[in-house]
Amino acid sequence: MRNNEKTIPLTPRLRAAADWVPSGARLCDVGTDHAFLPAALVLEGRIPSAIASDIRHGPLERAQATLARYGLTDRVQTRLCPGLEAIQPGEADAVSICGMGGEMILHILEAAPWTREGVRLILQPQRSQPELRRWLWDHGYRIEAEKVICEGPRWYTLLLAEGGAQTMPPDPLAERTAVGAAAGARGIPAFFAREERSPAGAAEPFGAGGRTPRGSVGGEPSSDGLD
Ligand SMILES: C[S@@+](CC[C@H](N)C(=O)[O-])C[C@H]1O[C@@H](n2cnc3c(N)ncnc32)[C@H](O)[C@@H]1O
Repeated sequence: MRNNEKTIPLTPRLRAAADWVPSGARLCDVGTDHAFLPAALVLEGRIPSAIASDIRHGPLERAQATLARYGLTDRVQTRLCPGLEAIQPGEADAVSICGMGGEMILHILEAAPWTREGVRLILQPQRSQPELRRWLWDHGYRIEAEKVICEGPRWYTLLLAEGGAQTMPPDPLAERTAVGAAAGARGIPAFFAREERSPAGAAEPFGAGGRTPRGSVGGEPSSDGLD
């Protein structure tokens, strides 16, 4: 059934990714699953259109269902492909890859070297964060910004990257676990944190045991797509 709502309430993790998509960007969301991220941005008027891609039929069908529900089928194209294989250089100037393992993310970028040329990359590795940082450093990408997001019992790191020489070495402390995550919660940069279960007693900003803020979508990614 068609939903006339003008917003899709994203969870903090996806909202943090959305906040890094520039107004008017031509976004490709890789591994889109439900297509919540591109659908929300188009509905909000931040971007005029988007591409939502996924390697599997099931997630792409879920994406198409979201787009049909919000009347966005003419503004968000879906593509069935691994990584960026069916995206032509020049079709996207912002690429989001969220909820996948860091090694999968780096393989996707490796197969699409055009992402080094003026493309904003919004990356949210579920794990293998040190490997992804190292690979970006070694392959001509610069990490422009990072943030740690607490969502229910988990911490997520988001990296904003683009082509260019790195000015800081890859995070030497990226292997830090719960201690680093707790530091991130106190406002210390993501530099010290990696995705990890939060320590017992850590603040759960969305209520006891809460995972996904009420009414929002795109909570903890399933294990699908993790490498
Ligand atoms: C855990 S879901 C994340 C969904 C959404 N991006 C989010 O962050 O909420 C991972 C998705 O990535 C897709 N995926 C896994 N490997 C992929 C690849 N190499 N290329 C494109 N999509 C992939 C899976 O099919 C799955 O839909």
